[in-house]
Amino acid sequence: MANLAQLYKTRIKGTGSYLPDKLLTNKDLEKMMDTSDEWITERTGIKARHIAADDQATSDLGVIAAQRALENANVDVSEIDMILFATVTPDYLMPNTACMLQQKLGAPNCVAMDLSAACSGLIYALSIADQFIKTGNKKNILVVGAEVLTRFIDYEDRTTCILFGDGASAVVVGPSEEGQDSDIYSHHLYAEGQLGDLLILHGGGSKHPPRQHTVDQKLHYVDMNGRDIFKNAVRTMGRCAIEAIEHNKMTPDQIDWMVPHQANIRIIEATAKQAKFPMEKVIVEIEDVGNTSAATVGIALDRAIQKGKIQRGQNVLLAAFGGGLTSGSLLMRY
Ligand code: UT7
Repeated sequence: MANLAQLYKTRIKGTGSYLPDKLLTNKDLEKMMDTSDEWITERTGIKARHIAADDQATSDLGVIAAQRALENANVDVSEIDMILFATVTPDYLMPNTACMLQQKLGAPNCVAMDLSAACSGLIYALSIADQFIKTGNKKNILVVGAEVLTRFIDYEDRTTCILFGDGASAVVVGPSEEGQDSDIYSHHLYAEGQLGDLLILHGGGSKHPPRQHTVDQKLHYVDMNGRDIFKNAVRTMGRCAIEAIEHNKMTPDQIDWMVPHQANIRIIEATAKQAKFPMEKVIVEIEDVGNTSAATVGIALDRAIQKGKIQRGQNVLLAAFGGGLTSGSLLMRY
């Protein structure tokens, strides 16, 4: 493994993201239920979230993010040799969303698969892409994280509907060329299946296939234990972040930016504190986006790059947690 990892260094060649036009603000939610802008802002840091148009499915969001990432990477669609699509809200159970995206993009015959790891999905997918690049097996991997989660949210449940939004992000991954010092240094991925019930969408799969009674029982909506998820989020994301720093024999001051999963500003702040990481070096893109599950880390990464915060040659730490419970971190030189 150590020798293989020396073959190629992995480079994030370009990133892209997309948010649908329609905004659902806290003020809008105030009119729909017993809540307030003040409560939501204070408890979550979220002011608004984007909602996909009726005719937009997850791959439609993903394709726009992917086109932007390809352009920024200066990679032609014909050069893609693998598509990894992280999502828990696929267009269909079959075929997979990666194949839908392939067709919409006009990408060539290539590997195309979905990856279900909830909010950790993008980091899981980037880690898999890294293995294929390091071993020289692939040259241009398109990693997408996208969700239309709002279709699975109960707008009578004020603890979940205030959090989630729709969105997409994409990353083009390939080998560093001569003179480029980009690399993915490490990834640490985890899953604790015994905590799966804390964040679950019961209906629609083989356990509870869609039937009239599953609709009546609201089984097709996200079911979440917010308080327990909160505690486990800080525990797992903090642990993964610390592990990445220690594994690479670094200290927090040698990391330029942390890009955490954007679920709740208080979770982000508590994670940063646990990892002894100053908030000035933490990318926060939650206020007008909300929690977009597999898309969040990529949206935050792309926005920070487009704003000129994250620059080439800097060390960047990604960290996430999500339903599963899954969690993971990835440390790279961008
Ligand atoms: O990607 C992973 C996805 N999920 C998460 O990351 C969620 C993690 N959890 C959270 O972000 C927080 O637990 C929430 C934002 C969901 C809730 O915040 P909290 O500070 O943990 O609130 P709580 O559940 O402890 O509830 C406190 C009070 C309760 O009232 P009582 O029992 O004290 O009278 C709730 O009924 O706040 C009430 N409440 C609300 N009030 C106004 C819950 N939701 C709302 C609301 N507006 N939307």
